[in-house]
Amino acid sequence: GGLTVGVDIGGTKVSGGLVDETGTIVGRTRRDTPHRSTAPSVVEDAIVSVVEELLAQTERDAVRAVGIGAAGFVSADRSRVVFAPHLSWRDEPLRESLSRRVHLPITVDNDANAALWAEHRFGVAQDTSHAVMITLGTGIGGALLVDGVLMRGRYGIAGEFGHMQVVPSGLRCECGNRGCWEQYSSGNALVREARGLVGARSPVASDLLARADGDPANLTGPMITEAARAGDRTSVELLAEIGTWLGIGMANLAAAIDPEVFVVGGGVSAAQDLLLGPAREAFGRQLTGRGYRPQARIEVATLGPDAGLIGAAALASDSLDHPGPAG
Ligand code: BGC
Ligand code: NA
Ligand code: ZN
Repeated sequence: GGLTVGVDIGGTKVSGGLVDETGTIVGRTRRDTPHRSTAPSVVEDAIVSVVEELLAQTERDAVRAVGIGAAGFVSADRSRVVFAPHLSWRDEPLRESLSRRVHLPITVDNDANAALWAEHRFGVAQDTSHAVMITLGTGIGGALLVDGVLMRGRYGIAGEFGHMQVVPSGLRCECGNRGCWEQYSSGNALVREARGLVGARSPVASDLLARADGDPANLTGPMITEAARAGDRTSVELLAEIGTWLGIGMANLAAAIDPEVFVVGGGVSAAQDLLLGPAREAFGRQLTGRGYRPQARIEVATLGPDAGLIGAAALASDSLDHPGPAG
């Protein structure tokens, strides 16, 4: 029995939760992610303060372990963040730094790997052993479940789908390359496109302009989803564009991996069919062998934006029960 703390560190927020054995969140808190230009220790301060606040919500020995899901490339031994396009970590010994300040067993994994593990244990990918996770947030997170096992690659970095090139000489990415998938299909891409329209004072952007109180900088992803739900045609089109890129990328992944289900999570997935409708259409148009092969399902993450923290907690709890490589 017992509780586990799960912490999901994304490009914009650090979300933590106290999670029980059934994957239910019984307490939560969050902070803004310190900017990429600040010292790694500042991000660690935010994590530690989230953990301490959660520990204070329960009796101390009720918590068995702490699991971290980090938006970056995690080493094969799951001790270091070797690189993170949206965070300040470069070969950061995260597990060791946190262990000095939090006196509980700590596990570290990639945020999307954690999200997929949660969906496999408790969500939409429970009844499959072949799933691909795509999280749409600041960037695109990716993870692979093959034969019921999380595939991490030789060096821990498998599943970095967001940095596949989909547009030669395309938009510059924080990773340093051009044309990365996450520049076309992510929360950041959605907001960038919407701000561009509003900033151009396009008449088609009047609804968004009003929601942003006249300042494009005020626009957020949830505002666009809300506008689309309320019938704003431009917002529907913006989400459809993100969805179309999503479907094209997933067709490429299906060619390589052949999963049974794609699970789409992260903030943008709240748009549900406004995103997944166009994604399914583009996927169906682009899938190689379409019409002659079983076609993977495309589903929204059941645990929504909580998948990462629930999965981080589950991975930490599993590693107590089965020491050695989990998942
Ligand atoms: C990072 C991934 C991360 C994803 C989602 C990408 O830019 O490279 O490691 O999983 O963003 O946070
Ligand atoms: Na991953
Ligand atoms: Zn990139």
